[in-house]
Amino acid sequence: MSAEIEKSPRVLLAPVITIDGPSGSGKGTIAHRVATRLGFHVLDSGALYRLLGAAAERHAVAVTNEAALEVLAAHLDVQFLFDASGEAQILLEGEDVTHSIRTEEAGRAASQVAALPRVRDALMARQQAFRETPGLVADGRDMGTVVFPDAELKIFLTASAEARAERRYKQLLERGFSASLAALIDDIQARDARDTQRTVAPLKPADDAIVLDSTDLGIDAVVAHVFEAAQKIPSIAKYM
Ligand code: DC
Repeated sequence: MSAEIEKSPRVLLAPVITIDGPSGSGKGTIAHRVATRLGFHVLDSGALYRLLGAAAERHAVAVTNEAALEVLAAHLDVQFLFDASGEAQILLEGEDVTHSIRTEEAGRAASQVAALPRVRDALMARQQAFRETPGLVADGRDMGTVVFPDAELKIFLTASAEARAERRYKQLLERGFSASLAALIDDIQARDARDTQRTVAPLKPADDAIVLDSTDLGIDAVVAHVFEAAQKIPSIAKYM
């Protein structure tokens, strides 16, 4: 038997870096920076839950109707169109929803549909299909614990609720949305509670994750920590 055939499927899979953490911890920005440097693909798993929330609203399906949401999730017509800089334009049923799925309201709906086990199962294969050569950076809540438990590198990013709300506040103002900081803190705390206390795939670090607290760290410092860890993993380091 040749050495190639003897290789386990695990070895033949593209390497994955998972970046999990709560809302506003900077996961998306960090994932984007790491993926760009390595030339890896990106999975923004939160966007899938946001898209499902938007599809539910569009088709007048209640965010509590698990059976209907499961069907909607299985047939979700979405496209991620990446430009040369790696920025994604996101289409739902052919319509550009890149910005509309980023509102706090869309985040709330996402968090509600994400608490339903059958919805999570229905989105599992779609998420795993993002694992393609040369590699993937996947950001979300359960990337390292459930979707890619065999990932080569797992990062869990935390930050205080106040720091995350402030980042979100600035981001929303920059994008032309109005916002109240106090309401954002309340919202982040409520969403954290829902995401960490749900019975299915709760937000928590994988046992083998590196936990980074970004409350007092800038983006560059967090990215530097991720690359320091990546340097020790040959299947990823070769792309650095
Ligand atoms: O990362 P985000 O804010 O775009 O995520 C929106 C919601 O989706 C969040 O409240 C929790 C949920 N989510 C999840 O349950 N699992 C993931 N892997 C990603 C997001």
